[in-house]
Amino acid sequence: MKIGILTGGGDCPGLNAVIRAIYKRSAPHGHELLGFMNGWRGLIQDITMPLDSEHVRGLLHMGGTILRSSGDNPFHTDDGPQRVLETAERHGLDALVVIGGEGTMMGAARMWDEHGLPVVGVPKTIDNDLPGTDVTFGFNTALSVATEAIDRLHTTAESHNRVIICEVMGRTAGWIAAWAGIAGGANAFLIPERPTPIEDVADLLRARAERGRGFSVVVVGEGWDPLSRGNLFDGYREIQETDVYGYPRYGGVAHVAARALEELTGFETRVVILGHIQRGGVPTPADRVLASRFGVRAADLVHAGEFGRMVAARGEVIRSVPITDALGEVRTVPEEMFSLLDTFSG
Ligand code: F6P
Repeated sequence: MKIGILTGGGDCPGLNAVIRAIYKRSAPHGHELLGFMNGWRGLIQDITMPLDSEHVRGLLHMGGTILRSSGDNPFHTDDGPQRVLETAERHGLDALVVIGGEGTMMGAARMWDEHGLPVVGVPKTIDNDLPGTDVTFGFNTALSVATEAIDRLHTTAESHNRVIICEVMGRTAGWIAAWAGIAGGANAFLIPERPTPIEDVADLLRARAERGRGFSVVVVGEGWDPLSRGNLFDGYREIQETDVYGYPRYGGVAHVAARALEELTGFETRVVILGHIQRGGVPTPADRVLASRFGVRAADLVHAGEFGRMVAARGEVIRSVPITDALGEVRTVPEEMFSLLDTFSG
């Protein structure tokens, strides 16, 4: 078989490990791989790279993606689907493995459904919010980076009696914020799923100060919606920017929260925005293993001719689900977990 591979959407640690795993599982069957560059753009514009044993060497621990990435989508491009089909035919593709998040997977689902392109999906995102799978690779690495940052912020916050707000990624999902906050011992949690008035956080910081803890570390998910019992955010509310694909561009809400907290408490409040540091660099061992298991399962699906499916983690098992399962509502931190955060707040 000739198997195409693309990586689309925001990169995340573990993408290269998936490519390597697909190679290792497919090569013994005599299958040949072909990489398409820059996500769907590679198929729309026919930009390829060979993926033979030379090209997949040393990939396991390498962050980013050797296939590069973009958020391009055949369905947002003139004649996109037609051009993808022509490229696939030109190269004699028997299958296409699409490694990506919601937007990339939407393209894959429609190419399969409406045009019969034989696709297999592999879910990825550091946000861990993709429906259809319990977990995505990249999340564990982002969590480790964010946890280490929070650990480090504690000591400097304490030395200077400061409040430090650490903003983490995740869009509308607070998984990185909640998990890194718990792991790093944050004193307060602001996550997108839970509307928390900033005055409550100010009360918590004052209560800590009264107990002799004049320093605090607050973790905030980038998609947290600033909420105040009064009108504190009237003048501060950010104008939401969008990226070139029309998705909201997050980043900076920690500054808004910091100004409000300083105003309410008088405590010096500083901000650290981790941003893309969470996405770069080497994958953790857990992400290398998960990405490898996803890659192997994807190769097995291709070999068996089971198309229109996406690999997914369910408990300890890697299975497959209809690729359309990735297109449902994003998986956010459920309400049952709020009390967990309360236990560790303060
Ligand atoms: O979805 C992954 C993610 O890293 C989000 O957490 C973040 O909001 C977004 O991508 C950033 O995207 P970009 O790299 O396009 O700015």
